[in-house]
Amino acid sequence: MNQTETRRPDFDFENFTFGVQSTDRMLMAAYKQGEWSDYRIAPVQSVSLSPLAMCFHYGQTVFEGLKAFRMTDGKINVFRMESHWKRMNRSLERMAMPPLPRNLFMDGILELLKMESDWVIDDPDYSLYIRPFVIATESKLGVDASQEYLFMVVLSPMRAYYNKPLKVKVETEYIRSARGGAGAAKNGGNYGASLLPQINAKKEGFDQIIWLDAQEKKYIEESGTMNILFLLSGETLLTPSLSDSILDGITRDSLLKLAREEGFTVEERPVAIEEIIQRIENGERVEAFGAGTAAVISPIETISFKGKAFATYLEADAGMYRLKNKLSSIRKGLNPDTYGWNQLLDA
Ligand SMILES: Cc1ncc(COP(=O)(O)O)c(C=O)c1O
Repeated sequence: MNQTETRRPDFDFENFTFGVQSTDRMLMAAYKQGEWSDYRIAPVQSVSLSPLAMCFHYGQTVFEGLKAFRMTDGKINVFRMESHWKRMNRSLERMAMPPLPRNLFMDGILELLKMESDWVIDDPDYSLYIRPFVIATESKLGVDASQEYLFMVVLSPMRAYYNKPLKVKVETEYIRSARGGAGAAKNGGNYGASLLPQINAKKEGFDQIIWLDAQEKKYIEESGTMNILFLLSGETLLTPSLSDSILDGITRDSLLKLAREEGFTVEERPVAIEEIIQRIENGERVEAFGAGTAAVISPIETISFKGKAFATYLEADAGMYRLKNKLSSIRKGLNPDTYGWNQLLDA
């Protein structure tokens, strides 16, 4: 490990593009003959795979995305780590891949973070993004579940820039996932299939898509790679109920819990796009926002449906900002962690 070259002294923490630079070390483990072994933390390196490796052909790839923060007391906090481990195992199960033992995921990531702790700087807008993933590595053509896998974790610096409110378009041609599909899993294929509609929407001047259900194209599912929530009249937080075509977002879950604490009424139920449009047309105050680990919440400015744009409520007193601040404060240790969401590391 002492040969690990550190890129940290040359890294410009003020000015960088997310996702391009990893830290110096990574976590790796291999699955063979029914068990995980060969666990190691190593310098970030390329991996060599046979062109017959099954991940190149049949889509058995699963990933997670979580974050580490430097708390005000100097400790490192990995937010809702256990929930991310559980979701990763649900994704792996759906993709006929072997589960990751708790200690491999949790202790492995904490050990990696301990070694890379100087990449978790004390800055309110900074976090270290953690990307665990598993790929099928057996060298064999033929559609089947691989017998061999590689688990890896890489870390990448992230900075929260002011994110301007999104112009979103309701996608009425393509769908993200159908009932019985794999939409609730974080497998690579879901993301590959979402690219073309997303690129088309960008060409039309939109920032993001709202996905509708596959059966009736009537009910809202998600927005791009975020869950979607609406705050109605500053009182009721409404979001589509979970199903096997929606990702069970951890930010969504956190916000729903905090919203109840704040005295909002929470409704999880099918949400027809027509209902939202009608509420806006009736002059109701409708806040709309995406929720995800990357930005916590991304406010939506307009929702375009069948060629017409509908404006949502974005003023400074919008309740969504209160929810965002509450969640961000817990992650940073400025508000009490009453749900046990913070996984702390002295490093
Ligand atoms: C499709 C999709 N929906 C929602 C989310 C938000 O999930 P989370 O809050 O756990 O980041 C993500 C991000 O992981 C996603 O990829």
